[in-house]
Amino acid sequence: MATKVGMQSDFGDALRDLIELDFDAVEAYNAAIERIDNSTYRAKLTEFKLDHERHIQEFTAILRAHGEEVPTGPSAKQLLTKGKVMIGKLFGGDNEVLAAMKSNEEDTNTAYERMNVHAGKWADAVLALERGMLDERKHKAWMEAVTTEKINA
Ligand SMILES: [Fe+2]
Repeated sequence: MATKVGMQSDFGDALRDLIELDFDAVEAYNAAIERIDNSTYRAKLTEFKLDHERHIQEFTAILRAHGEEVPTGPSAKQLLTKGKVMIGKLFGGDNEVLAAMKSNEEDTNTAYERMNVHAGKWADAVLALERGMLDERKHKAWMEAVTTEKINA
């Protein structure tokens, strides 16, 4: 099921959910990094995880500047299709883990696309949201390329 992140009418609420989604993504990345055997893939996942951590820092600063409450970790809501528990329990090897991460990147891409066209978007969030969307597109493109490569191999 696709994520609902970005559909809240209040921009601050939507941004809080986006941060929680990024926290969920970091946890899913940690679970995936633990499972992945191929060191090149592991390095790439570590690099992408840093992007998610940067998103959390940037959006947290923006929420604070608006005097809004900030999330400090993942929520109880399951915002990602393939969360850390699912990744940890997955049967299979690198290809199955990467396929699960690809579906997570579809969720994050959907969320960032919605946030970038949010009617109540704050002016000081524009740049960080654009950069975030570019990061998510890059992550998804890599997951697509690497899973196709492995499936065809
Ligand atoms: Fe991502």
